[in-house]
Amino acid sequence: PFVIADPCIDVTDKSCMEECPVDCIYEGARKLYINPFECIDCGACEPACPVEAITEDRHVAEGSEAFVDDGAAFFTIV
Ligand code: SF4
Ligand code: F3S
Repeated sequence: PFVIADPCIDVTDKSCMEECPVDCIYEGARKLYINPFECIDCGACEPACPVEAITEDRHVAEGSEAFVDDGAAFFTIV
């Protein structure tokens, strides 16, 4: 799945939400989150983000790996 990392924090442009064909991008307190269980890997959201916060999970920037687990945790009821 695709992942939204730190550039989204306090920016929350939301252009990504409009592009997602399965509406799997959800709003959190300070950033948006892609539900990894619903994302179909279409890639439509990636170019929509003006701050390039979106990448494929296996291509997240060095130092931003935590956002992959963070995203999954946001949608997992513990
Ligand atoms: Fe939605 Fe596609 Fe982005 Fe996944 S890759 S969040 S399905 S727009
Ligand atoms: Fe955030 Fe970019 Fe979407 S800033 S809300 S990931 S368009």
